[in-house]
Formats: sequence, C-alpha cells, structure tokens
Amino acid sequence: MHVMQSSPGAKTVIDGKEVDYFCGCGYYDFHGHPEIIDAACQATRLFGMGSATSRSGYGDNPVLLEVECNAAKFFASESALYYVSGYLGNAILLQGLRDDYDIIFYDQESHFSVRDGIAVSGKTAIPFSHKDADDLKKQMALHLKPSQRPLLICDGIFPISGEISPVDDYLDVLAPYDAFTICVDDAHATGVIGEKGRGTYEYLGLTGPHLYSSGTLSKALGGYGGIIAGKTQWIERLKSNSIIPFAASPPPTPAAAASAKGLEILHANPQLRKKLWDNVHYVKGKLRALGLDMKDTPVPIICLSSAKINIEQLPARLLDRGIAVSRFYSGGQSYSSVPKGGAVRIAIFSSHTTEQLDRLAFEIGNLM
Ligand SMILES: Cc1ncc(COP(=O)(O)O)c(C=O)c1O
Repeated sequence: MHVMQSSPGAKTVIDGKEVDYFCGCGYYDFHGHPEIIDAACQATRLFGMGSATSRSGYGDNPVLLEVECNAAKFFASESALYYVSGYLGNAILLQGLRDDYDIIFYDQESHFSVRDGIAVSGKTAIPFSHKDADDLKKQMALHLKPSQRPLLICDGIFPISGEISPVDDYLDVLAPYDAFTICVDDAHATGVIGEKGRGTYEYLGLTGPHLYSSGTLSKALGGYGGIIAGKTQWIERLKSNSIIPFAASPPPTPAAAASAKGLEILHANPQLRKKLWDNVHYVKGKLRALGLDMKDTPVPIICLSSAKINIEQLPARLLDRGIAVSRFYSGGQSYSSVPKGGAVRIAIFSSHTTEQLDRLAFEIGNLM
C-alpha cells in the first residue's frame, strides 16, 4: 500500500517522494486548488461541518443551495439535486423513476453503483454484453413483455477502460418503444466530456425527454457528493420517490463549499477543458507512435492492456523513475470494466506539463 502525503495533482507526494502523478480522477487538479480550499474553510467556519440533520427539516444551508444553483447553471437545467455520494445517484434515479419503467437492461460491465442501485430498485434486471447494442436488442426481444416499459442503465465513461457507452446506438434500439427511459452514470464524464463539460449526452449530441444522468462532484470538480440536474418538477419527483435524499445527511459543509466553487471555476474557465483535451490528444499521439492502440476520444483515461505491456511490472518500474500510474486486476473482485488480463490505468490532468507527458511516453517506450 502507498500513502499519499499531499493533495492529488500533477505533482503528488507519495511515500515521502514527489512524483509525476497519473492516477485517480482529479482531472483539473482541483482537490488542492487554493480558491477551493479557501471556500471550504470559510464555509466551515460559518456553518460548521454540517447541519446534523437531513435536508427534510432545518437541514438546508446556503452552501448546499449554492451547489444546486451552480450545478443548474453548469448543466443549463432548471434545477439540481445534491446528495451525499455520487455512488448513490443510480439508486436515486432508479427509485425516483420507478413509475416510468417495468424492467431494467444494464451493461454487464456497469460500475458497482449501477448494480447496487438496481438491487435497491427491486425491479427485474437483465444484463447485456458490454457496449453491445445488438445484444441489448436480443435481450429485449427475449425478456420484454408487450406491456412492459424498458429502462436502460450504463456508465457514460467506464472508469478503468475509459470507453464511452454507445448511448446513441442504444437510443436507436429503444426509440421504437412508446415508453422507454435511459439512465447514464456520468461519474467520470461530469465536467469532462461534451462541449460544455456536461457529460456523455452532450458529447454524443443527444437530447430528449427520456434521457437522465447522475454525476459526481468528487472527481473532476474537486469536491464531494452526487448531483442530478433536470427540470424542477422532475427533481421534486425524485425527492419524493427516493428515500435517500430525504433520509441521509447531506454532504458536509467543506465538501459542499468545495463542490460549489469547483463548479463555478470550471464553468467560468472553459480553457481548462480545452487544455485537458489537448493534453489527452497529445499524449495519445505519443503512445500511438509506440504502437499502442488509442481511441481518439477526449476521455482523460488511458487504459493499457496486457497485449503489449507487461502490466505486472510497468507500474513499479515507472514509480522507480518517479511516475505513478495505477494497476488493476481482472476477474474475481476486480474493479468494473477492467479488460481481461488486467490493465494499467493512466489519468491525464489539465495541469500535466508537456515535459511530464513526454517523459511518461518516453519511459513507457523504454519499458516495452
Ligand atoms: C462509474 C462510477 N460511478 C459512481 C462512482 C461513485 O462516485 P463517488 O465516488 O463520487 O461516490 C464511481 C467512483 O469511482 C464510478 O467510477
């Protein structure tokens, strides 16, 4: 086990040594951003660690409301719901939408939070092969009764493989049905893909009344807690249909204040997204030149599988050279979306310098 002894950023102190850091999900270096830390400290002095009650009574404070207001601005929606953890977003969506669907179809590689959310919903759920719209069609033909309304749920961006779900293809499969719903877990897409950073639907150019998503403020946005944006009436329905926002304490004040500030900074600084995408494009080009397959997407997650890389050795040998990347095993209790044989996951930040990206590619090339 390693110990992180600074805030995570392009340079991070691990086990007492500063390294070039390519792990985790802090794609904009926000977790140590001075304005975000100041906002968290200031709000905590004013409002304490939290309201010590759920939001149903006197539990709202100006910081929680500010997160929702900033999120509504960020996503160009009427309203937003801020809740205790991004992990619970899928459960909230599936409970909140319970009157709109009868049976769930889900990508079999979906994140744990999707599968736990399905369990909480109590509805029948059928898996389909990873990212496979043809299999979705097949499973729907096999399991959907004529009177039933389908709901599809999947990750927008898969956390380890960095793949984007082909939601446009899923929509083609579902469109012939009178009533259908699509839910996307946008934990890794929130603030990252789409012209304005609004996530998978924006990236794929999809809009429509049947499309819902949940996001997190704990990754790119530098705060903590889950966020769902949408029309006011619908957000109110989620609140009354799902027990989670009603019965759980809201996120603590410092996390909320950091989230509000993270949303504000990213919204006001589109150049950060551009810098992130430029860095992703640049380093993927370098890795492609080494003969590694790289999908041409703006996703800041690079997944090296065992086909060309010794994934057992690469992370330790890179760490010896002052570069931290993550290794994930496949099978058993592995993380969702790890390719067969395991993978090395490399996270790119907007704050990585060209020199850091060059050195990463150079050292990987040396170790191939
Ligand atoms: C796809 C996906 N969904 C949900 C979550 C949970 O988000 P949070 O950690 O902010 O609760 C994660 C966390 O890693 C994730 O990767």
